[in-house]
Amino acid sequence: MHLPEHFLIGAATAAHQVEGNNTNCDFWAQEQLPHSSFLEPSGIACDHYNRYEEDIQLLADAGLKAYRFSVEWARIEPEEGRFDDAEIAHYERVIDCCLAHGIEPVLTLFHFTSPVWLIKKGGWEAESTVEYFRRYASYVIERLGAKLHTVCTINEANMGLQLAAISKRYQLMAERMAKMQAAQPAAENAKSAEGKVQVGMNFQKMMENAKYAAMENAQIFGTPQPHVFVSPKTPEGDLLGMRAHQAAKAAIKALYPDMKVGLTLSLHDLQALPGGESFVETNWAEEFTHYLPYLEGDDFLGVQNYTRTLYGPEGQLPAPEGAELTQMDYEFYPEGLEHVIRKVHEGFSGDLIVTENGIATADDSRRVEFIRRALEGVSRCLADGIPVRGYFYWSLMDNFEWQKGYSMQFGLVAVDRETMERTPKESLRFLGSFSR
Ligand code: BGC
Repeated sequence: MHLPEHFLIGAATAAHQVEGNNTNCDFWAQEQLPHSSFLEPSGIACDHYNRYEEDIQLLADAGLKAYRFSVEWARIEPEEGRFDDAEIAHYERVIDCCLAHGIEPVLTLFHFTSPVWLIKKGGWEAESTVEYFRRYASYVIERLGAKLHTVCTINEANMGLQLAAISKRYQLMAERMAKMQAAQPAAENAKSAEGKVQVGMNFQKMMENAKYAAMENAQIFGTPQPHVFVSPKTPEGDLLGMRAHQAAKAAIKALYPDMKVGLTLSLHDLQALPGGESFVETNWAEEFTHYLPYLEGDDFLGVQNYTRTLYGPEGQLPAPEGAELTQMDYEFYPEGLEHVIRKVHEGFSGDLIVTENGIATADDSRRVEFIRRALEGVSRCLADGIPVRGYFYWSLMDNFEWQKGYSMQFGLVAVDRETMERTPKESLRFLGSFSR
């Protein structure tokens, strides 16, 4: 397998999923609600906030060359306009630790979690968020930019529309089920709806909790339906994310014109069986193409893929009979990454970075196989001249998979939930073996 000399092989994490005690953010607040849809609260997470040196050491020892992680807005600006220097100093130490180990830090400014105050002000549907995000991005890069080359503004900026489509579908199914008074298959339907979003959500629980959760949310955020980043978005909210990205990009470029700036998108490998072509076309336009005007001039695009989605004449289909499923109930389909890279390259001619690709499984030999096949796909893309600059496996360690809590094992490193002890898996060594 051929990967070029400067190709970045790395692993990714996100602040809220690994750091622990991220108490000023919206997710933390929602995890504590009496009618929370989270299986469990994030709590101490992986205590990465205190153990980042050990974690970066593990990454370096395995030969990985890059670490993608996020800085937490709710720590850095816990109250509107009050920026916390001590938190920036923390992230500077994380970057310094990477550099001391020869690891390239790839920084994400925003990975799903917002300060509670931002959500109180209307969150990701409010016009003011564009300026708030610009100001935050500018502060972070002014302080950290000298040590960085690559910055992702917003992680999976297309998540809100995907969730809007799923909750609509789910609502329709629930209504149909209610009519049929068939309680039993409801859970199955919930499962198949969840399988269509590339992130850990519990739709069944959300529906059940909706009434009480609305009251509890109102107490915290001043509105029963707070617009957190992963809430289903309106078309305006969807584009607000794009404008926040553009504003942040301009602020970063004003400080460091050579900084590589881009955002990341959650991209399914959409495949049509005969009769399913129009579904693929519509969904690809929604998931990818309609964002292109907002990405013009970006230095790179972060590609995040976990599986494929099949469509037939009636719409979305379940995974084929007998297909191997991951813990997330996704089809085991590492070839999806190559397909998505090729499709993205047709619309976006700049550099691509695989900012996330991975599998939740208790069987690490399946992870090794997944990585091997995914990287073979990447190397075929490179051979065809597609400018893929790096591959970041999701995730460096088993961590907090959002509403699904700690039930998913995406990691290259296992974390003992009692002792926080780290145990590298074979897949970590395997991924490192591709680094040069
Ligand atoms: C997100 C991660 C998440 C991963 C696995 C991506 O959508 O960026 O935060 O843990 O998928 O579901």
